[in-house]
Amino acid sequence: MTDLSEQRRLQAADVAPPTAQRVVFERLGKAYRSGAATLQALQDVDFGIAPGEVFGIIGRSGAGKSTLLRVINRLEAPSSGRVLVNGTDVATLDEPALRHLRRRIGMIFQHFNLLSAKTVWENVALPLRVAGVPAAAIERRVGFLLDLVGLSAKRDVYPAKLSGGQKQRVGIARALVHEPDILLCDEATSALDPETTQSILALLQDINRRLGLTVVLITHEMAVVREICDRVAVLEKGRVVELGAVWSVFGAPQVEATRALLRPLVHELPAELAQGLLPLASGARLDPGWTLLLELRLTGAQARECELGTLARVLGGKVELLHGGIDRIQGRPQGRLVVSARTALADADALLAALQASADGVAILGRRTGESHAA
Ligand SMILES: Nc1ncnc2c1ncn2[C@@H]1O[C@H](COP(=O)(O)OP(=O)(O)OP(=O)(O)O)[C@@H](O)[C@H]1O
Ligand SMILES: [Mg+2]
Repeated sequence: MTDLSEQRRLQAADVAPPTAQRVVFERLGKAYRSGAATLQALQDVDFGIAPGEVFGIIGRSGAGKSTLLRVINRLEAPSSGRVLVNGTDVATLDEPALRHLRRRIGMIFQHFNLLSAKTVWENVALPLRVAGVPAAAIERRVGFLLDLVGLSAKRDVYPAKLSGGQKQRVGIARALVHEPDILLCDEATSALDPETTQSILALLQDINRRLGLTVVLITHEMAVVREICDRVAVLEKGRVVELGAVWSVFGAPQVEATRALLRPLVHELPAELAQGLLPLASGARLDPGWTLLLELRLTGAQARECELGTLARVLGGKVELLHGGIDRIQGRPQGRLVVSARTALADADALLAALQASADGVAILGRRTGESHAA
């Protein structure tokens, strides 16, 4: 496992060279105090986010995700450590400088926070009005943004007449009025149906690419991370327990917290296949009469496909594909296939060694019961 951690560290360095970070958390801690009690919401958070990255933050409820997002624009002040945005420690900013910083950082939420008595156009224009931007410039900017989010036709409509997806598009346009460098998204698609989520993700990706915006995104939907994030950090009880390229973290999660979050994406072995399966010890003697269930796993580490030729050659006879699937994350194949087969090889280790070339990992899940001993 050391190899993988090392590999991740190197990847992190590739994607985010330390000299050009958009956001840096330096040994960041955040404690909330209520009376005598102290709640440590963040501890020893230490990593950077590169310009133009789409960075995902995942973790159980209460893990500290929103707190981590809110220290970036100083909606929360760190209790220890530092937060640097474009190289500046946000704790050192006076009021005007903080106002300026907040304009460089857009934010969108699950509940769109639109003003119901104002039209789409007015909702987007309001922050510019407050900032004293001239009317002609407001007209140009809001026109551009409504076009960008595909809502030009709705400019004079009130939020009550918009769908959830359209409301979030207004939220996104409003978050972009001051041409920010960073967009913070706190569960921005959680209130949307899957199809609308897809369209909002496509919009965020488009904005990320066209405007070079850095996107920091919290979500409980792992499919969202898989779809659009470059890297992901897993928070658990205020600590970063895993961090790396999405394909790497999702392909071979190292900690239970990550595995628990990813469970909805995993194709669990169906009960009818698991039932009546006898596990085999490593090095066990094999019987040619047994039907074995074999698992082939792709982690994405070698960017290779499942090699079925080797499988057929080694196993001979009938090989049946029972279960599983291969996904692609950041272009790397990942997933697992469960096959049933018989083998003429005499022991389990020899079989696994012979199949090594067919996938990143091969395991014998067990043998089917109810079969006669051929010896
Ligand atoms: N203003 C606050 N005062 C006291 N405690 C707080 C405050 N804000 C958050 N906390 C606590 O800090 C911890 C982290 O909260 P946070 O909102 O960052 O979690 P989260 O990961 O965003 O959770 P969720 O997924 O439910 O939104 C929680 O235990 C929460 O109760
Ligand atoms: Mg939260």
